[in-house]
Amino acid sequence: VRIGILGTGIVGRTLGVGLRGAGHDVLIGTRDVAHTLARTDRDAMGNPPYAEWQQSNPGFELVPFAEAGAHAELVVNATAGEHSLEAIGAVGDANLAGKVLVDVANPLDFSHGMPPMLSVANTDSLGEQIQRTFPDARVVKTLNTMNAYVMIDPSHLPGRHNVFLAGDDAAAKGTVGDLLGELGWPAEAIVDLGGIRSARGLEMFLPFWLSLLMSMGTGAFNIAVVRAATA
Ligand SMILES: NC(=O)c1ccc[n+]([C@@H]2O[C@H](COP(=O)([O-])OP(=O)(O)OC[C@H]3O[C@@H](n4cnc5c(N)ncnc54)[C@H](OP(=O)(O)O)[C@@H]3O)[C@@H](O)[C@H]2O)c1
Repeated sequence: VRIGILGTGIVGRTLGVGLRGAGHDVLIGTRDVAHTLARTDRDAMGNPPYAEWQQSNPGFELVPFAEAGAHAELVVNATAGEHSLEAIGAVGDANLAGKVLVDVANPLDFSHGMPPMLSVANTDSLGEQIQRTFPDARVVKTLNTMNAYVMIDPSHLPGRHNVFLAGDDAAAKGTVGDLLGELGWPAEAIVDLGGIRSARGLEMFLPFWLSLLMSMGTGAFNIAVVRAATA
């Protein structure tokens, strides 16, 4: 599958490695290629600048958002949630029409310091905003509830743990479920929460995820849903 990943942060990079490792043709999208390659600062989490990462991960082509979207059969939104509508808007409606749009972003608002707040919650979600704004894209919210390394390698953690899907298009969720399988997620670990409205809960999990991160001092954890054995 030709995949266009919107996002040059740790999530875009890590999903790029995972999806290319699964045999897909991956382009990574950014606002301004020259500007992104010229950066020398580490991000807030201490990740190296993109150019330094690319040296140790050769072969990834960095292109403007619109080109990543035009090339893609499937688009991944791994941009800062507050700016995702803008980033996807740069791809343009024509480049999104009929395509699966995998949304892994979280609508985190850092403007009041740490920990961040959600910029949308309760009665709406970023996943729904994306689906409403780009009605011809087939949006599937997934993977936003765990750190990037767990996304592409669930065996990074011991035991059974879960990943969730929310989206209005059943076939699109099937496609995304297949991709998750290629990344190592067993079918029984993938929980379909229904329509894109369920993105609300997936995104509102983030304050709790951040509390766990601060409490445990590591992002290497995930949710395991434990249910009663049925008779
Ligand atoms: N970090 C994790 O492990 C993790 C786990 C689950 C979900 N998430 C979510 O995944 C997303 C990506 O996270 P991340 O840590 O990899 O990177 P990030 O720093 O949150 O986002 C970086 C991306 O956002 C784009 N961006 C920033 N401001 C923009 C603007 N004004 N207009 C358009 N695009 C803009 C950047 O574009 P340029 O390339 O042009 O700079 C870059 O590609 C976020 O929504 C995050 O909440 C993160």
